[in-house]
Amino acid sequence: MFVRITFAVNITKVIIMSKVTVIGAGNVGATVAECVAHKDMVNEVVLIDIKDGLSEGKALDIAESAPIHLFDTKVKGVTNDYGATADSDICVITSGVPRRPGMSRDDLLGINASIVRTVTESFVAGSPNAIIIVVSNPLDVMTYVAHEASGFPANRVMGMAGVLDTARFRAFIAMALDVSVKDIQALLLGGHGDTMVPLPRYTTVGGIPLTELLPADQIEEIVARTKSGGGEIVKLMGTSAWYAPGAAAAQMVEAMVKNSGRVLPCAARPSGEYGLSDLFIGLPVRLGHSGIQEIVEVDLNDSEQALMDISANHIRSNFEALKRVLSQSNA
Ligand code: NAI
Ligand code: 2OP
Repeated sequence: MFVRITFAVNITKVIIMSKVTVIGAGNVGATVAECVAHKDMVNEVVLIDIKDGLSEGKALDIAESAPIHLFDTKVKGVTNDYGATADSDICVITSGVPRRPGMSRDDLLGINASIVRTVTESFVAGSPNAIIIVVSNPLDVMTYVAHEASGFPANRVMGMAGVLDTARFRAFIAMALDVSVKDIQALLLGGHGDTMVPLPRYTTVGGIPLTELLPADQIEEIVARTKSGGGEIVKLMGTSAWYAPGAAAAQMVEAMVKNSGRVLPCAARPSGEYGLSDLFIGLPVRLGHSGIQEIVEVDLNDSEQALMDISANHIRSNFEALKRVLSQSNA
């Protein structure tokens, strides 16, 4: 005898994010594609670059690792073919020029703004409902550029930096205390660069405030190392990092695909939160299917708020510099 079981499914509530595009198949982009594929949470990852064969080669290499890592996500590489990216749910923009020794993130301004604008326009034409995560530097200004170029609401455009910077902060704390990184929760706000604002007051190890575990001077050293964490890698390798940045962007993708409500620091556009507006800057946000579901506000003391204001002013001055670069190139 057969028993018929009827499931009542509210179709309108089922949202599945199945396709992720990664623009730029360089060090960071390929790592994002690989990390997203390993998580086996979407049907397809499309990797796109302007260099002939680069995306195709890296995508094939990742696909050939599937029988070892045991994931079903299809990874496809294309050269400048935005048709293949159509109907993506999430896009990670990594295209651009990375930092070289002696080069600041701000040096990248003009070149990367033009790349980010072009790729955003090409992408959104086929994926008007997607969520965009920007990785290209200088991060906070490039996120602004992508937001403008996309015409998307602010909850669907964000930048990846805080997850990486917080991971560095947590890694250095774990090294200093010789404890597991798994027990370290940290908060870090502000722009991606020297003016980022790690918040030791909101950082805990197994629930114990960091400020009770390390003396102030040692915390200061860790904060300083975190702020120059990107530069430390550039000095060592002659180019910027990719393992941690790729993993960080993939973690943001995962939070949205799984609608998990994770609270992660991302470059977001505040509307008065933290006394800020008209810019993208690192803030704690709750992530889900709709992108940024909420900007989470925590109390800052006077010195923390002062550091946030310095960071915001730095981002604004970068933006002014970008406007100068653009007006010179248009003249
Ligand atoms: P990379 O040079 O290895 O890769 C960049 C790729 O972008 C290249 O393959 C290049 O061909 C491609 N590209 C350039 N113009 C393009 C276009 N119009 N369309 C499609 N692809 C294009 O550089 P890497 O190391 O992957 O870094 C990428 C960007 O990410 C840089 O701007 C870097 O500064 C930034 N970055 C940001 C981090 C963050 O925390 N936000 C961390 C690490 C890197
Ligand atoms: C990093 O922080 C350079 O933004 C890049 O590694």
